[in-house]
Formats: sequence, structure tokens, C-alpha cells
Amino acid sequence: MAYRSLRAFLDRLEAAGELVRVREPVDPVLEMAALADRAAKQGGPALLFENVRGVPGSMPVAMNLFGTRRRTSWALSSDDLEDHARELRELLHMAPPQSLWEKLKLLPKLGKLASLAPKHVASGPSQEVIDREPDLRALPVLTTWPHDGGPFITLPQVITRDPETGVRNVGMYRLQVLGPRRLAMHWQLHKTATAHYRGYQRRGERMPVAIALGGDPALTYCASAPLPPNVDEYLLAGFLRGEAVQTVKGVATGLDVPADAELVIEGFVDTAAPLVREGPFGDHTGFYSLADDYPALDVVAVTHRRDPIYPATVVGPPPVEDQWLGKATERLFLPLMQIVAPEIVDICMPVEGAFHNLCLVSIRKEHPGQAKKVIHGLWGSGQMAQTKTLVVFDEDVDVQDVSQAAWRALANVDVQRDLVIADGPVDALDHAAAHFAFGGKLGVDATRKWVEEGGREWPEVCVHPPEVIARMDALYDRLVPGAAPLRRPRIPPPPAAAWTPRRGGNLQ
Ligand SMILES: Cc1cc2nc3c(=O)[nH]c(=O)nc-3n(C[C@H](O)[C@H](O)[C@H](O)COP(=O)(O)O)c2cc1C
Repeated sequence: MAYRSLRAFLDRLEAAGELVRVREPVDPVLEMAALADRAAKQGGPALLFENVRGVPGSMPVAMNLFGTRRRTSWALSSDDLEDHARELRELLHMAPPQSLWEKLKLLPKLGKLASLAPKHVASGPSQEVIDREPDLRALPVLTTWPHDGGPFITLPQVITRDPETGVRNVGMYRLQVLGPRRLAMHWQLHKTATAHYRGYQRRGERMPVAIALGGDPALTYCASAPLPPNVDEYLLAGFLRGEAVQTVKGVATGLDVPADAELVIEGFVDTAAPLVREGPFGDHTGFYSLADDYPALDVVAVTHRRDPIYPATVVGPPPVEDQWLGKATERLFLPLMQIVAPEIVDICMPVEGAFHNLCLVSIRKEHPGQAKKVIHGLWGSGQMAQTKTLVVFDEDVDVQDVSQAAWRALANVDVQRDLVIADGPVDALDHAAAHFAFGGKLGVDATRKWVEEGGREWPEVCVHPPEVIARMDALYDRLVPGAAPLRRPRIPPPPAAAWTPRRGGNLQ
């Protein structure tokens, strides 16, 4: 079910008891962030602040929209994130049709895909009010942590266009309000908008930028999705919501912007102008990112609905709301990773790793050295290149269970033999790296080692036979009514001995 607007999503949340209206006056300086941080950490409801202290006549502020897996799934028009992953997998594995009948059966699927590309329309609610003399201080922009350099827009869709190809990019990059018509653009070194900025700079041109807030929440998620630079995020949004994103022409920049957004800021970056100081900002790493230099946007127009709602998030020490945007990416991008590395069974980016610091991967291992192949492969793919620590497991390890994964990694690793220590690009926010955006990386092969890899006789994991577990679980449930089910290690499949006669350890 596609949402016509952010308010349509809020209505659904309210009907399901997942939205709390905050009628008490709450300050956008620190207070809203502190309340939303608590709600996010406790899996609490979405919050709609209706009384913004200190900003006369302010629009309401919506926070913690993506604060649980369930709400994030709803935001992406699904019951669970896995539904989309399944659909994507089906599409990617569509075999070329053999017969005319199969071809005919494919047509509706292909036709549906084609109809999901963004569609231009003449007008939309995001331009009900056009303000060519805007003052950003009239917006309820949050200051989230005490040492932040100022107020920051935290949940934007930053729309830019490749100056060479014209392909659109939509990125979620925070924006610091520097003045009534000035924003600092925190697109980091490795991000697509930075490449666009450099492109305009090479051509000696100014860079048009539009910033959309709100609309169907799928659009907001897609701004955070690590799509390749030449793929339009609004196409992904169309796929997720099952309906094309409608766009209107921006009033000042001519960029196509979502017709259903709550508010759109338009302006130009002077690519010849000196950079401006941005930050510090309490970041998703849980630490303050230090102040640094970024381009500035000169705002020339703001358009909005007649009664807009301002969406925001608070990032900070995990877990916070962005863990669920990350989980959506983890689920949706797994089928894509499996195209390049089909041995990958599952991946998990635990919240403690704040996205780039830790990725756990399980693989179906079929040859010696395969875990190391996967480590190097992932370090070469898209934003996975910035992953600091990658740990690879056999397929019987449930990497979604971090405690189980830690047990297996600690038991299975010989630190002389199984670590890959390398250097390369790291996240621009990694304060521990010896240099900015460049530093050490760790790959860990936590699979069982075959003889070819220097493994000796390898012990099996202790598990009871399934029929004994079934009987005793039934007995336990009778003895201890209401007991939670126990998550046990998966039972490894039988070894493919016919194909790998020299498998190591006790499987030899
Ligand atoms: C809440 C939130 C805030 C983010 N803030 C920034 C930011 O300020 N700068 C940045 O470069 N990336 C930020 N990101 C990550 C990017 O949105 C993400 O890497 C995205 O894939 C970038 O898109 P791109 O590949 O089109 O550049 C943020 C992500 C989230 C979920």
C-alpha cells in the first residue's frame, strides 16, 4: 500500500496505536531529541510534537517514525522487510523464458516494473505554498546534542543531478542551518552528491540542489539506501511502494521533486566558493563528529503544503531509530550481494557496530580460502568498502544471533592464521583511523578450517537429535507454562562429500 503523504502514514500509525501526540510544549533544542532517543531505545511509539516551544506558529514535528522493525516494514509498504527481499530475489533470479507461454507470463511482471519509474505531474501539494523569500529559522529544526554546532535537518532527501548524465541522486545527508538562507551540506567524501559536486566544479557551474522532507516514508528510506551512483533512488521507492513516485518541477532549480512531500528547500551551491565550517554534530557513531569543511547551499525558495509536518530523527549512541533503516538496507541488499557472491547465506550488521564497524556474514563454504575471498570481495563492493571489521562464518551459524556468532568466532579463530589485516577506505566518521577516511581493516575467517587451510581434526558442535528436542520441548512447555522458545544453533547440513572428498577435519 503506497502512502499519499507522510500524514497518511501517521494516520495508519495512530489507528494502530503506534503514534503518540505530544501536546505539552517541548523544545527543539535538546528536549525533542532526548524524548525521541528514549522512545527509540525502548522500541516506543512514533511521536508527533504539536506544540514546539520557542518557534512561534511552528509546524508539528514527527519523530521515531521508523523506530521498530514493524513500523519500518509498514513504512516500506510491507508486513515485514523480508517480503521485499523475497520479491527482489525472485526478480533477480528470473530465468530467461524458454517458451512463448513463459514469455507471456513474464509480461505483467516486466510491465509492472516499467510502470514504477518516477512520473512527472504538473502540480502537487508540495508546492501549495511558494516562498521565494524564505527564512529557515521559521522551521522547527532540532539541535540534538549539547555540543552540536547548531540546528541540523536530520531526515532529508537531498536531490542532485549528475551534470554529465542527468541521472538523479537522492541521498540522506544532514544539513546544518547556518543562517536564514544558508545550509552546510554534509555529503561525505565517498557519497554520490560529492561526485556530483566535483562534476559541477570541473565544469565551472553552480550546482542545483533540492531538499525534500516527508512524502511517503519509502522515499525517506530510499535516500539512505546505498544504491549504485547511476540508479535513481525514486525508482527503488516505486518498487517498494508498488506505485510510481510522482514528481513536480522545482520552482527555482528545475529539479524534479516529490509532488507529495511536506516541504521542499531549493537552492544552489557555488562550487567555486570556499567551503564552510560544519559541525560538530553528535553522530550515529555515538560520538561527536568534529567540525570540518563542506560546501554551502544558498537557499532561494521553500515550497510546502498548506499545513506541513516536519520529520526529524535523532542519531547518537546506538541503538536508535536509524538501526531500522540499516536493517531494511541489510535485508534488501542481501539478494543483490548474493548475485556477486552466491555463497553468502546471510549478513548482519549489529547495532553495536553502527553500520560500518562490523558485518557478520555466513557462507556456504565449498572450497578452501572461500571466507577470505568473500572478505576481499565485500571490501570491493559499494559502501561495503568502508566496513572496518568483517567476520565470516559457516552457514550453520545464525548471524542474526550476535551472542551465538561471538561464541563461534572466539572458538574457531587462530589469530595467527585466520585474520586478514589490510588497509583501505574507511568511513569518513571513523575517528579511530590513523588518517581521515583511510585506515586499517580486519577480516576474520571464523569458519571451520579444512586441512588445506591448516585445520586439524575439527570437533562438531554439541546438539541433541531433533526428535529428542521436540519431545523435551513439549514436556518443558507443560512443566513451565508460558516459557519463551529457545533459540538453538542450526544443525549443519550433511557435508557434500561426493563433491569435496578432501574436506578437512573429521569429515575426511
Ligand atoms: C539518519 C541518517 C543520517 C545520515 N547522515 C549522513 C550525512 O550527514 N552524510 C553522509 O554522507 N551520509 C549520511 N548518511 C548515510 C547516507 O544516507 C547513505 O550512505 C546513503 O547511501 C548515501 O547515498 P548516496 O550513495 O546516494 O550518496 C545518513 C544516514 C542516515 C540513516
